[in-house]
Amino acid sequence: MLAIIGGSGLNQFPELRIIKERYVSTPYGDCSAPLTFAEIQSEGKNIPVIFLPRHGKGHRLPPHLINYRANLWALKEAGVTRILAINAVGGMGAGMGPGAFVVPHQLIDYTWGREQSFNFAADGYVNHIDFTQPYSARMRELLIQSLAVAELPFHQEAVYGCTQGPRLETAAEIQRLIRDGCDLVGMTAMPEAALARELGLEYAALCLVVNWAAGLADQELSVDEMMQVLAAGISDIKKTIFIFANATI
Ligand code: HPA
Repeated sequence: MLAIIGGSGLNQFPELRIIKERYVSTPYGDCSAPLTFAEIQSEGKNIPVIFLPRHGKGHRLPPHLINYRANLWALKEAGVTRILAINAVGGMGAGMGPGAFVVPHQLIDYTWGREQSFNFAADGYVNHIDFTQPYSARMRELLIQSLAVAELPFHQEAVYGCTQGPRLETAAEIQRLIRDGCDLVGMTAMPEAALARELGLEYAALCLVVNWAAGLADQELSVDEMMQVLAAGISDIKKTIFIFANATI
């Protein structure tokens, strides 16, 4: 079963046919919102999906306070095997300006103080997962095909640098990320992607660039402008999700 973890701008998904909502409590605490069990109706098929808004209903959780472990644990318990994450990000890579769709292939983690692991060590083994390729190759391929079918322009490779937030970066921090090889900057890919891997879940991300990263455009960053870009891109994100859900069954 496919789950969609919605990011900023995708707190609700009324286009889904909702079957039930279920509050889930896990050994790691509560997840961001009730899990929405739903169906995507596409080309005469009813495709089951679970939707979870990462920031909670009404966007009340900032990136550093999200209970990533509870979210991933609840999805696994609900029978999810694949996760499509949606992320609003800042852009640094060539052509990755506001409005660009990007399917990252790599990650650098700059976060700190977040619960990074389920710590299965307590159960008798230390969980050194392989994370060489943080995103599922198969899901990335399907996502790239879905963006092509949706006739959207997109970038099919990028390194996502995950910062701690909730503040945006300084211009010097962005220059460091560029030197490190990052093309995108966001605050939510980690530890989400690593926790998915610990649980053996396939995971890929669809990123929408909502601003040039700090210092790359001539003005200061404006959250209002980011929200406008997000609002303009959300219907294309939903269209891509519908195509993707149909391709993954
Ligand atoms: N930095 C970090 N996270 C973000 C940005 C940014 O510029 N834009 C959207 N999410």
